[in-house]
Amino acid sequence: MSIHAPEANWFKPPSGAERTWIGLALAWCLVLSIMMPYWHFKGKQNSTGDSYRVTPAAFAARVEQFVKTNKVAEINGVPVVEPSPGGDAYLQGQMWRWYPALKLRVNQTYRLHISSTDLQHGFSLQPMNMNFQVLPGYDHVLTITPTMKGEYSIVCNEFCGIGHHLMTGKIIVE
Ligand code: CUA
Repeated sequence: MSIHAPEANWFKPPSGAERTWIGLALAWCLVLSIMMPYWHFKGKQNSTGDSYRVTPAAFAARVEQFVKTNKVAEINGVPVVEPSPGGDAYLQGQMWRWYPALKLRVNQTYRLHISSTDLQHGFSLQPMNMNFQVLPGYDHVLTITPTMKGEYSIVCNEFCGIGHHLMTGKIIVE
């Protein structure tokens, strides 16, 4: 129980500057609410992807097969894999690496399959700042066409444990 009971009829309708600020906040809430569906149709930030169910073990087996068939080099023990243009590429997120490194050809289109074999990771391509959630159990397939040559880094932007900050990968476009 409070020491002093609140006075009766304590509520007074907002007026003056308070009323203006409430009005501004409400208007901004409405603008942001409209922007959410608006960005879904406008702009190029939407994923080109489809998603399929896959068990982590089945996905890992596909990745291994992909590496075995298309490996062209190795950097610090990580295989560099070059998929055929127009074909499928695989990228596996796991504590705490992106596997394997990919070598792609500029202006060629690939179907990039991304999944995780343990828990949730965040695929973040730098310096382009393209971001996708990576979840175990789902094969997220992005249709990608690299348009600029260079070496791109993949970092993990979803906290995934003690080695999260070490979880990096590489995509080379030639
Ligand atoms: Cu994977 Cu953070």
